[in-house]
Amino acid sequence: MLRLTGSLSLVFLTLLSSTHAHHSYSFENTAIVRQVELAGSLVQVVTTYAVKALEKNAKAYTIALSSNDKEKTSWLEAKVKGQQQALPVRDHGKEPTNGYHLIDVELPKPLGLNETLNIVLETIQTHAAKPWPASASQNDEQSLLFKTDLFVISPYQTLVQRSKLRSPTPRIVEFTEPKDLEAFTLDTPATKSGATITYGPFNNIPPSADEDFLSKTQQPISVQYMYDHPVLEVSSLKRAAEISHWGSNLNIQDEIRLRNGGPELKGHFSRLDHQAQAFYKRPSPHVLPALSLHLPAGIRNTYFYDIIGNVSTSHLRVAPAPPKSLKSRTPQYSVLDLRPRYPLLGGWNYTFTLGWDSDLSDSAVYDSKSGKYIVKVPVMTLIPGAVVNQAEVTVILPEGATDVDFSLPWPAVSTSSSTVTTYLDTTGRPALTFVYERLTTRHDGDIYVSYKVPLSAHLKKPTAVATAFMGLFVLTLIGRRINLSLHPSKTA
Ligand SMILES: *[C@@H]1O[C@H](CO)[C@@H](O)[C@H](O)[C@H]1NC(C)=O
Ligand SMILES: *[C@@H]1O[C@H](CO)[C@@H](O)[C@H](O)[C@H]1NC(C)=O
Ligand SMILES: *[C@@H]1O[C@H](CO)[C@@H](O)[C@H](O)[C@H]1NC(C)=O
Ligand SMILES: *[C@@H]1O[C@H](CO)[C@@H](O)[C@H](O)[C@H]1NC(C)=O
Repeated sequence: MLRLTGSLSLVFLTLLSSTHAHHSYSFENTAIVRQVELAGSLVQVVTTYAVKALEKNAKAYTIALSSNDKEKTSWLEAKVKGQQQALPVRDHGKEPTNGYHLIDVELPKPLGLNETLNIVLETIQTHAAKPWPASASQNDEQSLLFKTDLFVISPYQTLVQRSKLRSPTPRIVEFTEPKDLEAFTLDTPATKSGATITYGPFNNIPPSADEDFLSKTQQPISVQYMYDHPVLEVSSLKRAAEISHWGSNLNIQDEIRLRNGGPELKGHFSRLDHQAQAFYKRPSPHVLPALSLHLPAGIRNTYFYDIIGNVSTSHLRVAPAPPKSLKSRTPQYSVLDLRPRYPLLGGWNYTFTLGWDSDLSDSAVYDSKSGKYIVKVPVMTLIPGAVVNQAEVTVILPEGATDVDFSLPWPAVSTSSSTVTTYLDTTGRPALTFVYERLTTRHDGDIYVSYKVPLSAHLKKPTAVATAFMGLFVLTLIGRRINLSLHPSKTA
């Protein structure tokens, strides 16, 4: 189990590093470049820090996020530029009054005096772009407003920094032109080129993770840009993954509450306009007619229904089952093109249930050393570009499973265990439930659950089934009044 945990968990490493005593090393930022990819529900922010150690044996670099940025950030990863391996990070915890948040990044090896390194911080912000205006009629365009702070803050002095905000199209409605920046630049502080707004370069910025700097020098900026795709949100996702050794099946069922987070519809919805737009292939950007979901490879018996019943207007392309190894995370997935029963307008919801079966052997291994089964269950169904506000993942184990253990790709908001009883169960199945919030497309990890199934438990199900069949058999006999005593000499 440790092997699996170690390879997955940023958090695991976080916990490890938190046992180290905290010490602030001193650095200088030779340059900071922040690149913001403006989009719908998810906004990616990549900040590159070119750092120079001002003391020898510097082991950790401290990153600062403003309280606003911290609140919106739901995924964070730090790496050395050009390398794959994420660096362990350690959060300093909440500093409610001073308006910023500190995170230590453990360096791969201590830096010597004047030694330099490029650290790349990638974060995903959720709900950071809001529809603006907040309501629109069916034929209007859709524009979003993104707000952030002008300066990337840092506990260290910065020689030069700039921020680039890139919109999906060059159609930028408006952006803030900041004022009073003579101390940092003599040029125009904001320039637009194509789809990109650049703030800076700004020179010689003092340590800015500092209350004084934040109150006197930091300023808010915003960009309003056109966005031609629906703003997708999953208000809630309830996943039940049921493991069955009897039949060697893994059934996954999702109850998804989808929401179009775009501007609320002003006036009435006209189906005629909608069809005309569809005919001319100019769909309104804030009307969602269909969406694509990524489902696992090798699935079967896929079903999709809503409160009215079966939804047949969907199309599934199943990718072949992945090779039978837990370690390989194949990028292969099946694609479900799903067409809700009605086009989803801004502010509208659509609740549906989606489920499928797959071979248990595609996601389970038996470890003969520990005598345990290890099963991996994906945390969620990936809807590209969407944020999942709340996810509740329940893993239902076989009846009689013992020694249950689990490993999460990142910590859950809450974890609980229960017992689920379904048909033909005698003692019920142990179940684990994990609650997550604000999942992004970067959170496409797997939950690993390990457990033992004693032989008696394996037999329990056949026994229960046999008993049930015997009952039916006896009932039939009575019903048909068949004379059982054909050979009275043998039975007596
Ligand atoms: C580090 O850089 C400073 C300033 O450039 C220089 O004065 C100093 O000699 C350097 N020290 C080492 C050990 O390279
Ligand atoms: C829904 O569709 C599935 C497969 O297409 C079918 O087996 C099932 O009977 C249908 N259910 C209803 C309620 O129509
Ligand atoms: C959609 O659901 C949200 C809560 O998730 C609710 O506030 C809103 O009123 C719903 N919208 C409609 C049009 O029913
Ligand atoms: C059942 O069969 C046996 C022997 O064939 C016969 O003696 C007996 O009367 C039968 N019983 C009934 C209820 O028909």
